[in-house]
Amino acid sequence: MDAGDKKKIRRECVALLRAAGCDEAVVKHCVAVAELALEVARRHNRGVDKRLVFEGALLHDLGRARSHGVEHGFVGGEMAKELGLEERVVRIIQRHVGAGLTAAEAERAGLPAEDFMPETTEEKIVADADNLIDGVRRTSVEEAVEEFKRKLGAGHPTVKRVVKLHEEVQG
Ligand SMILES: [Fe+2]
Repeated sequence: MDAGDKKKIRRECVALLRAAGCDEAVVKHCVAVAELALEVARRHNRGVDKRLVFEGALLHDLGRARSHGVEHGFVGGEMAKELGLEERVVRIIQRHVGAGLTAAEAERAGLPAEDFMPETTEEKIVADADNLIDGVRRTSVEEAVEEFKRKLGAGHPTVKRVVKLHEEVQG
């Protein structure tokens, strides 16, 4: 993916987010996450599909056009399917929330009782990068953890999962 490809992908994905009804704050957040995710993907070099990481990260919050709840990942995946986007992008979108959802957590959120945990390196890089961007600001995993504790409670399984995902992606 050269600079021209990157520009083109960014332009197309941003147009898609706007057409879906995402507000500008979401669009800017997605661009910031995509830039960080691409940096991380480049550090991984071999075996990571950088184009997929960039595209998936740009579209990860597509579902925020319809919902800002925990279900926005699933909803965004369904929207991406309707748009005919490739399955790998659909999965990045569906598995990016927090550090993923177990089937039980998904069911509790009113979603199909399926596992929505990031599995591939590309899925993990996007989920982790999302946790490290607060709006458009780069933050740390420590700050991200504090935010999850505040929102979900210190004992919530997501807290440990976010740290584990980050270590896995960085390591
Ligand atoms: Fe999100």
